[in-house]
Amino acid sequence: MHFLVCGGAGYIGSHMAQWLAAQGHQVTVLDNLSTGHREAVRWGELVEADLLDPASLERAFAGGRIDAVMHFCASSLVGESVREPYAYYRNNVAGTLNLLEAMRRHGVERLVFSSTAAVFGNPVSELIDEDHPKSPINPYGASKLMVERILADAASAYGLRSIALRYFNAAGALPQHGIGEAHACETHLIPNVLKAALGHGPALKVFGEDYPTPDGTCVRDYVHVQDLAQAHALALDYMDTHPGAHAFNLGNGRGFSVREVIAAAAEVAGRDIPCEAAPRRAGDPAVLVASSVRARRELGWSPEWTDLHAIIESAWGWHRDQAF
Ligand code: UFG
Repeated sequence: MHFLVCGGAGYIGSHMAQWLAAQGHQVTVLDNLSTGHREAVRWGELVEADLLDPASLERAFAGGRIDAVMHFCASSLVGESVREPYAYYRNNVAGTLNLLEAMRRHGVERLVFSSTAAVFGNPVSELIDEDHPKSPINPYGASKLMVERILADAASAYGLRSIALRYFNAAGALPQHGIGEAHACETHLIPNVLKAALGHGPALKVFGEDYPTPDGTCVRDYVHVQDLAQAHALALDYMDTHPGAHAFNLGNGRGFSVREVIAAAAEVAGRDIPCEAAPRRAGDPAVLVASSVRARRELGWSPEWTDLHAIIESAWGWHRDQAF
């Protein structure tokens, strides 16, 4: 099959391209390289294009019939979305609309969409399943939920088949393939912990130690990017027999606190991680843990990276090789 991977120069998109190529598929990567990296496009042809520029977007469809689109392009920082909501709605909603219209023009009827745990807002239950209320508390989550809504309407109006995959905390890397998490302005916990361990960044700031959790720090559900890629491939199969718009939550179903992540990373790296207490970060829920029962049951998803140490070790293998 021929896949268009939008955002394939980014963190999760590049792992998706690797997975698809390893299965023998043809890959075209669309990316505007605003946050992605040219050197992460190792599988398939790169079309430098911007979803906000429909003319440039056409070039991605010009290289032969596309069977399905995997859509990872997005602005994805919660705090930034609060400060710059117009940019988030423009990139994430208007950009996706342009992509959907281009897909329709070219008769492409299958889409896997990167959604997020941020569509749920503050959790009202310990494990978050697909039926949990969707009340995003920031423009990032709201923009992703808006797209989910558009996909449901597109299924009714145009017969678009789509699956939204709501990632919890994507983590890990594939150092053997030279890809990992590389954001120009890094805000995520594991890369920041590893950079602190390498002395490539400042001491790690622990944002809040007074949450209602066992050690006072926030609890998250870390899921390996390769397992996310696997879920996308399974989602494609699922669409064959399940028309319409669907959504699945993806996580390992187990939460780890910031302090637990730091301790695990110190063991993996074999060194102390310099860290310091800092105030809470705006918009951080205390606990976010997925129930992925539906993805396991209906997609047949079975994450391979269920051990936090192994996830961190893969990220460490990649970070160690980087000259930040
Ligand atoms: N944290 C620190 N120090 C850091 C970085 C993070 O203490 O330097 C803490 C955060 O405060 C949070 C936890 O580590 O408690 C995890 O933070 P990340 O930034 O790694 O991830 P988030 O949980 O904020 O983000 C994830 C997804 C987003 C999604 C969001 C929903 O990456 O896409 O959950 O809240 F929107």
